[in-house]
Amino acid sequence: MTRKIIIDTDPGQDDAVAILLALASPEDFDVLGIVAVNGNVGLAQNAKNALTVVELSGRTDIPVYAGCERPMRRPLVSGAHVHGPTGLDGPDLPDPTIRLQEQHGVDFIIETLRREEPGTVTLCTLGPLTNIAMALVKAPDIAARVRELVMMGGAYFEVGNITPAAEFNIYVDPEAADIVLTSGIPIVMIPLDVTHGVLSFQDRLDGFAGLGNKAGKAVAEMLTFSQRFDLDKYGSEGAPLHDPCVIAWLLKPGLFEGRQINVTIETASELTLGMTVADYWRITDRPKNVLYLRSADDKGFYALLNERLARLP
Ligand code: BDR
Ligand code: CA
Repeated sequence: MTRKIIIDTDPGQDDAVAILLALASPEDFDVLGIVAVNGNVGLAQNAKNALTVVELSGRTDIPVYAGCERPMRRPLVSGAHVHGPTGLDGPDLPDPTIRLQEQHGVDFIIETLRREEPGTVTLCTLGPLTNIAMALVKAPDIAARVRELVMMGGAYFEVGNITPAAEFNIYVDPEAADIVLTSGIPIVMIPLDVTHGVLSFQDRLDGFAGLGNKAGKAVAEMLTFSQRFDLDKYGSEGAPLHDPCVIAWLLKPGLFEGRQINVTIETASELTLGMTVADYWRITDRPKNVLYLRSADDKGFYALLNERLARLP
């Protein structure tokens, strides 16, 4: 049975790989739409990047929407120092010929959840949670209609990547993350603790380049660009590959391990703003609101990526 999904994203090279993985898996996913959000770079560029990636996949039937231009309460925070000024630096990809849908992304999310049978639509979030939180503010009834929300965001054992205490997607819009985590939607959280265990070693990048298709070459070039920042920062042989873990979990949950816990977002302290305070050891009696993943089988993850990306043009 295919699973209906909406991908909310700020592409981003790793977002792009996640989108390609989903679009390469039509027997598993019915992608109802892709919604761009402000994040790695500004909304307009992220939306353009989403169109570029859809075109690269050959799945130009997938509608792409633009969502929110800024976080709910905070000024913009950029990830351009990692992803480059376009957010998708690396490959030389043509400007997209397909166009954005006119409807606002938040309204698309609301309308889709109200139209589809309750409990059938999964939200996959690869960026800050602004669009989802705005949809929940505008239409609280949709919370009960979501099958589950699978997010890349947060960290506990690895702590932070944009500040010493916070992961980028949560830090950019902590109020939005707080709204989502307290919404009652069943949530799977894929934090840095997982993504820092699936490193894109050179032989893995060579594997993508050697797939013999346009998508594989573009993925290798994208990740070669985006990894330079992390290789330098962490002194490791390969960089974390964050967002594709969301799609991989839906395809093969057996590749991941985790447990049901409470996660609460820090929205007040300047020092630890956006921290995901994860009660991993179940010290408190706060309600368990998240399936918190902690590790992944990295070999299985890259094998899945190779197998699926090989199907694309
Ligand atoms: C997250 O931040 C972004 O830069 C990546 O695309 C990923 O979603 C990792 O912290
Ligand atoms: Ca992202």
